Amino acid sequence: MIDHTAAVRGGEPEASTGSRVVATGISKSFGATQALVRADLEVRPGEVHTVMGENGSGKSTLVKILSGVHRPDAGSLLIDGVTATGLRTPAQARVRGISTVFQEVLTVPGSSILENVWLGARRSGASASERRQRASDVLERLLGAPVDVDRPIGSLSLSGRQACCVARSLVADPQVLILDESTSALDVATRDRLFSVVRELTSRGVGVVFISHRMDEVFEISTVVTVLRAGTTVASRLDIGSTSVAQLVQLMAEASEGARGGTDGLPAALCCRCETFG
Ligand SMILES: Nc1ncnc2c1ncn2[C@@H]1O[C@H](COP(=O)(O)OP(=O)(O)O)[C@@H](O)[C@H]1O
Ligand SMILES: [Mg+2]
Repeated sequence: MIDHTAAVRGGEPEASTGSRVVATGISKSFGATQALVRADLEVRPGEVHTVMGENGSGKSTLVKILSGVHRPDAGSLLIDGVTATGLRTPAQARVRGISTVFQEVLTVPGSSILENVWLGARRSGASASERRQRASDVLERLLGAPVDVDRPIGSLSLSGRQACCVARSLVADPQVLILDESTSALDVATRDRLFSVVRELTSRGVGVVFISHRMDEVFEISTVVTVLRAGTTVASRLDIGSTSVAQLVQLMAEASEGARGGTDGLPAALCCRCETFG
C-alpha cells in the first residue's frame, strides 16, 4: 500500500480557515473496488484546482462525494467550514453552493434547451421570464451567439448539449464549480469561452475544481494541482507555475509498473498527452 504520509505538498500553510472545501481522509469502496483510500482535497476561494490522476484513480468518485452523489465510507468533508459529510443528493450540494458538471453529458432528450438548463433546480424566487433570460444570457456567453432556448435540446451538437450542462451549473451561482472532464465534449471555441467564464468566476472568489486529460488545458487554466494515484492523494496543492508536465506524469504513474510503455519509462497512454502539450 502507498505510504500516505509520503504525499507531496505544495509550499503553503497546512490549514486554511477560509477554504471552500476541505475533504480529509475520504475513503469509498464499491464492492471489492476501493475507489478512494483516505483521499484529501482542499479547495480555496478564487483558485482553479485541478485534480489529476490516471483513469480509475478516483477523480470522479471524489467529486461525486463533494456533489452529494455518493456518501463516503470514511473521512470528513467541510464546505465553507461547516461539516457536509451527510450530503445525500446533488440538490443538497447545490444548496451548499456546490454545482457540478459531471463527466457524462446529461441531458433529457425531447425537452427544450430551457428545460435542460433548469433541470433539477429548486423552485426559487426566479420567474419564468427571469429563468429564460438567465438561460439565454449564460448560453450566449458559452456558445458565442444568441440561442433560441425553446428549441429541442436535440437540435444542438454534442458540444452545444455539453454547454447546456455547464449552463445548468452556472445558473445556480455556485461558490464551488466542479468541471469533471467537461471540456472533452466541447469544441475549442466553446472551451475557450468557458475558460473566460471560469476566470471571471475565480476573480469573484468562486473555487473551481477542474478535471481534464489534456495537459495543455491544465497548464492554461489551473492555479494548483492535486494528484490522485489509486484512490490516494499523492500530491496536494502543487503550484502550477512551479510544476512540470514530467513531474505530474511521474506522480500519476509512479506505482503503476504494469502500465509502463516504451518511451522514457512513461506509460504509453500518457506520452501522447505530453505531446499534445507541446
Ligand atoms: N458506481 C460505481 N460502481 C462500481 N465501481 C465504481 C463506481 N464508480 C467508480 N467505480 C470504480 O472506482 C474506481 C475509480 O473510478 P473513478 O472515480 O471513476 O475514476 P476516474 O474518474 O479517476 O477515472 C474505478 O475502479 C471504477 O471502476
Ligand atoms: Mg472520471
